[in-house]
Amino acid sequence: MEVTATPAATPVVKGFWDEATGSWQYVFHDPATMRGAIVDPVLDFDPAAAAIATTNAEALLDYVRTQGITLDWILDTHPHADHFSAAVWLSEQTGAPRAIGEKVVGVQKLWKKIYHLADDFPTDGSQWDRLLADGDSFMVGNVPVSVIFSPGHTLASITYVAGDAAFVHDTLMMPDSGTSRADFPGGSSADLYETLQKILALPDSTRIFVGHDYGKDGRTAAGETTVAETKAENIHLGDAPDEATYRKRRDDRDATLPLPKLMLYALQVNIRGGRLPAPEEDGRSYLKIPVGYFTPPAG
Ligand SMILES: [Fe+2]
Repeated sequence: MEVTATPAATPVVKGFWDEATGSWQYVFHDPATMRGAIVDPVLDFDPAAAAIATTNAEALLDYVRTQGITLDWILDTHPHADHFSAAVWLSEQTGAPRAIGEKVVGVQKLWKKIYHLADDFPTDGSQWDRLLADGDSFMVGNVPVSVIFSPGHTLASITYVAGDAAFVHDTLMMPDSGTSRADFPGGSSADLYETLQKILALPDSTRIFVGHDYGKDGRTAAGETTVAETKAENIHLGDAPDEATYRKRRDDRDATLPLPKLMLYALQVNIRGGRLPAPEEDGRSYLKIPVGYFTPPAG
């Protein structure tokens, strides 16, 4: 009997770049069924005024509505350190459920301590509709989505492989920018090395969509590369370093990097799934900053 190979599902992917944080946000959808998902949406935050805005999230929503996409999921790859997640706001607008990796409970425990949060702060991931484990899979229309546990940048990071598109967020970056830092609490360059090998083991033609880009040497910000291009040209991976070589490269670079400007603001929101702390008696939410817990890099 003749066996006909099913062509690889190829979702339509649209990237949205946030200039303030260099973040890439994505909407992918199955053109046959017009069902889709949002990956890593940004809620705007101005730290000087402690003001929230929904400019980025509204742009995502406009695109979804204009294209006629029915949203099945709002997905986060990890609790971000550089921006607030707009998952809750988008979920309120659309009714779509929110998911993240199941190890987020470890990140919640870690940061609960750093922020000295009250005992009743839940660290069971109940702030999300679904917690995803390594190997979990689900469908968005006809596009199969599978989850690869991808720790290193954080202990909870996951990659979403949707058909031929991998949303890797902070693991590797565009080829001229290398890989993502692994020095935040719960980060590990050893774990990141292992994660990168898993991503590089995807088919060479896999489209890779990265989480951050800041442009480089006059190049405008870009978010899409491939496994083949990464293997050949990524400045941290192109020479196929062994684990020790890679880790030294990563750790030496991390030692020079300042912490993200929004990290201490963002994590307390993102470990709540993208919600501000509960309002106080005056109806306003207050953020909490631990003083002296972190030290800036030397030099
Ligand atoms: Fe991140």
